[in-house]
Amino acid sequence: MEESRIEELVSQMTLEEKASLLSGDDFWHTKAIERLGIPRMMVSDGPVGLRKQDEHGDHLGVNESIKAVCFPAGVLNAASFDIDALAKLGDTLAKECLAEDVGVILGPAMNIKRSPLCGRNFEYYSEDPTLSSKLGAAYVKAVQARGVGTSPKHFAANNQEHRRMSADSKVSMRALREIYLASFEEMVKDSKPWTVMGSYNRINGCYSCENNWLLNEVLRKEWGFDGLVVSDWGAVNDRVYGVAGGLDLEMPSSGGVGDRSIIEAVQNDELDEKLVDKAAENVLRIVMRYVENKQKGLVFDRKADHEEARKLAGQGMVLLKNKANTLPLIRGMKIAVIGCYAQKARYQGGGSAHINTDNVVSFMDLLKDDPDISFSLGFRDGQEETDPSLLEDALRSAKEADIALVFAGLPDKYESEAYDRFTMKLPQCQNDLIERLCKEGIRCAVVLHNGSPVEMPWVSEVDAILEAYLAGEATGEAEYDILFGDVNPSGKLAESFPIRCEDNPTALTFGLDGDHVDYREDIFVGYRYYDKKKMDVLFPFGYGLSYTEFEYSDLVIDKSSMKDTETVHISLKVKNIGKIKGKEVVQIYVGQKDPGIVRPVRELRAFTKVELMPGESKEVSFDLTKRAFAYWNDIIGDFHVLTGEYLIEAARSSRDIALTAQVHIDSTVEIPYRFTQNSTFGDLMERPDKMERIKDVLDALKEGFGGQGEESSDNDEGAISNQMIEAMLKYMPLRAIVQFAGKEKSAIEDIINRLNS
Ligand code: BGC
Repeated sequence: MEESRIEELVSQMTLEEKASLLSGDDFWHTKAIERLGIPRMMVSDGPVGLRKQDEHGDHLGVNESIKAVCFPAGVLNAASFDIDALAKLGDTLAKECLAEDVGVILGPAMNIKRSPLCGRNFEYYSEDPTLSSKLGAAYVKAVQARGVGTSPKHFAANNQEHRRMSADSKVSMRALREIYLASFEEMVKDSKPWTVMGSYNRINGCYSCENNWLLNEVLRKEWGFDGLVVSDWGAVNDRVYGVAGGLDLEMPSSGGVGDRSIIEAVQNDELDEKLVDKAAENVLRIVMRYVENKQKGLVFDRKADHEEARKLAGQGMVLLKNKANTLPLIRGMKIAVIGCYAQKARYQGGGSAHINTDNVVSFMDLLKDDPDISFSLGFRDGQEETDPSLLEDALRSAKEADIALVFAGLPDKYESEAYDRFTMKLPQCQNDLIERLCKEGIRCAVVLHNGSPVEMPWVSEVDAILEAYLAGEATGEAEYDILFGDVNPSGKLAESFPIRCEDNPTALTFGLDGDHVDYREDIFVGYRYYDKKKMDVLFPFGYGLSYTEFEYSDLVIDKSSMKDTETVHISLKVKNIGKIKGKEVVQIYVGQKDPGIVRPVRELRAFTKVELMPGESKEVSFDLTKRAFAYWNDIIGDFHVLTGEYLIEAARSSRDIALTAQVHIDSTVEIPYRFTQNSTFGDLMERPDKMERIKDVLDALKEGFGGQGEESSDNDEGAISNQMIEAMLKYMPLRAIVQFAGKEKSAIEDIINRLNS
């Protein structure tokens, strides 16, 4: 609908009608204004299936929703590192929404994985903002291309479930910009989501859903967002502050409370009616877009979509270990399948992302009649202690087989919205079982079902590990495809697996300080931390094996020196040097050599996934612009590139760098600096042009220290060298010239003026 028509419609509304548009009619609908022909619009969760509920709605996945298709969880989709896969998912979900008359699907979930214990990590993509933002953009674009809206969530710094509705994320501007906001930024700019969902928490004291800086300054003005901001369900703290701060729609219905407070605030001159108009326009624009894109007669094809779910799952499972080609399994082998998750798949997490499906296929559903396959339970879901008889049964069947295939994982109750995990460990009975099998000398492959990292005390003892994550309703089929080699695994971890939970930088404080959530690790999230600390990890970010191997060569950059306004073009060749077809994720990391400021060793800046036949090689290329080399500079309030040398690394993972090139970059931006009497001589030395201005003072100072003048050699015995004087002066404030250069106090003012003029 044309912009002028939106404004005209809003101008015809009473204050009461405008206020009514700014909150839900019920759990899932916006309000209608019948006299103006404005219908209700339905929104539904999201993000990896349709959770469409009737009037008995809830936001925690408690009540039933329609039968739908459960696609793999966000964690697995991210591990695909596959833009096309995310686009396919978005496209499929959009068709389902159209068939079910849903206007906006609530997702994707874009928050950064700060701690491995966050209860919603299974929904979130990554610890890395570049990966998260690019994948989110692909999903959003694909959904919206069909005329259905999205709601990337939860904006922003909502990185734990513990006290999520009152927690105050204390984050530096730099960490916000480089990590937490960056996870949304490219997605917003590139894919223009219809809506964005404001998070429950506060950021540095201010609730996200009334945060003018976050919603108006950053999201709208800086990033150009022109859609509707909706609250997370129940995230409104103060409705009037919300309108003023840029929150358009409160969800779900507040039973009229929110509307009344808006009306009263306008009547009492506490809220400008123009802000209400703006918010009403933002809601109306999306409702009308929904009306224009509505399609009748579409069918939600659950069968076809199930096949999509199977394919997607096969793209994101990660092969973590494969000693002596244990996998793929050979048909005809005697296989002892052990573990309850082989029979009853663990395939999704809990809460609002929970999908009601009746088409879950487990691994044993496919193989129950196969004479070469035996099954034993090994342990029970949710059980901690070992059950000796189940363990003995499992051992017995494993001894009769060529290999034991253990389906381990986290019980359902461990991973959900609304609370965090309390441990990174698997239930003890599962660790006991795997260790015992290995001790008995049984070949053992482990298939893991979990939405976020687990500790693996048996990692060096088992023969193979497949991280199946939470793979959706086609879990068993996708596992079958990979384990028997019909699909070559190509997933890479979108998160680091620390050896133990305590290795993670948040471990000291996570969930321990009430509402006060101090992001002390700052920009050092995930691999940025482990790399800086040179710490061993269980499996690094970006890591994942294939049944074939890839060779990287011919890294070429189109320039070795450039300005920060220019683009560097990179290309390299990747060759499949194995015997079967496979896909490789090429990752490009950037790091500054000797930055002289706090910076991570390397940061992911680009990636692509290529499919190669045996012996085939392809060229892949990337363009890196300013942002790839930049850090957030608080003085200029912008991203900034320091003049210096930068390493561009083409890598198989964050810890497996195949090829490196170097580029010199010259900054075109001068960081303004104002001298004060407490600026140091070191600050001055960094600006040689300024030093010239007070050369007379500096010479006097050197003489005072017994310096030898310009010509003196550093080897003059007994003489104090100029370098030594410089080193000694480096941290001395300019005001010290009163004592050391015998100047009057008034001279300082003159010097400061000369420096700043
Ligand atoms: C969740 C959102 C979800 C909403 C509606 C909230 O509890 O945080 O992700 O979209 O409920 O179900």
